[in-house]
Amino acid sequence: METAEGRQPRVAASAVLGPSALSAIVFTPRARLPPSRVGQHLVVAINMFDRVEEAAAAVRARGGALPQIAIVLGSGLGDFADTLLDSVATPYEQLPHWPASKVIGHAGRLVVGSVAGRRIAALAGRVHFYEGHTLDTVVFATRVMARLGVKQVILTNAAGGINTGFAQGALMIIDDHINLLGSNPLVGTNDERFGPRFPDMSEVYSRRLRAIADEAARAKGVAVSHGVYVAVHGPSYETPAEIRAFRTIGADAVGMSTVPEAIAARHMGLEVLGISCITNMAAGVLPQPLDHNEVMETARRVRGSFISLLEGIIEKL
Ligand code: HPA
Repeated sequence: METAEGRQPRVAASAVLGPSALSAIVFTPRARLPPSRVGQHLVVAINMFDRVEEAAAAVRARGGALPQIAIVLGSGLGDFADTLLDSVATPYEQLPHWPASKVIGHAGRLVVGSVAGRRIAALAGRVHFYEGHTLDTVVFATRVMARLGVKQVILTNAAGGINTGFAQGALMIIDDHINLLGSNPLVGTNDERFGPRFPDMSEVYSRRLRAIADEAARAKGVAVSHGVYVAVHGPSYETPAEIRAFRTIGADAVGMSTVPEAIAARHMGLEVLGISCITNMAAGVLPQPLDHNEVMETARRVRGSFISLLEGIIEKL
């Protein structure tokens, strides 16, 4: 990139990169500036790949064995991160470029530690599209996990039950998804270092991992259902007409997360497992309005069995 001085900037961002590149302001050390430019700053572009690599390097620098499996903890599940042994916890704000979630109930930290002899990265808190982040920001953490060497990612979330056979508090293994976000995290210039331009999505949620989740559920005595998750932008909940429409197109549960991360994870070749906690019946299913407090309350109520299921799954991975 040409700077105001007509030279390449000496920062990690050596390449300039399409629409997914964000600008970062770099204050150039006084010693490298001619006297006339002291006090001015240079704007350089740091591409997504370099930002992901810098965050991964910061996680490595925290020490401890690196994770093999990443688990994104949905609403009310943050406590799982406290059950990890030999753990290294890092608040998101201490990791470069890492976006901070502003949603109540999300702690915002990365905890790397052990469960059943496996090294796990637990992500307590995620950012959502409805917070106003771009989708490539939403999938930043997933990309860092992949660059750290994680091979499997477990995505958990709170969702509204569209399938009337579900009860509040049910756990649903995601068999497939429908993306109604109106966008895709891979929009823009494709960086082949992450993955291919047109990645296959015929088995986003690994058949193998779904079978393992079923076995773990049986072993732990936790009831699970299966279904299709539809992702919507939010943050308003859906209308009853939208829920009827989603049921018609084959959705069993609706939520505002998971699909961007699942797409980015597949783009990078990770195996994905998704599990929804049906925290409420979707709009219009029951004759009562939806309430975020109810979502959080249900998530808290089932967290014991959800954590037990996660442990059972990790033991079998
Ligand atoms: N709709 C969308 N997202 C949700 C819901 C819902 O009913 N419940 C929890 N997350």
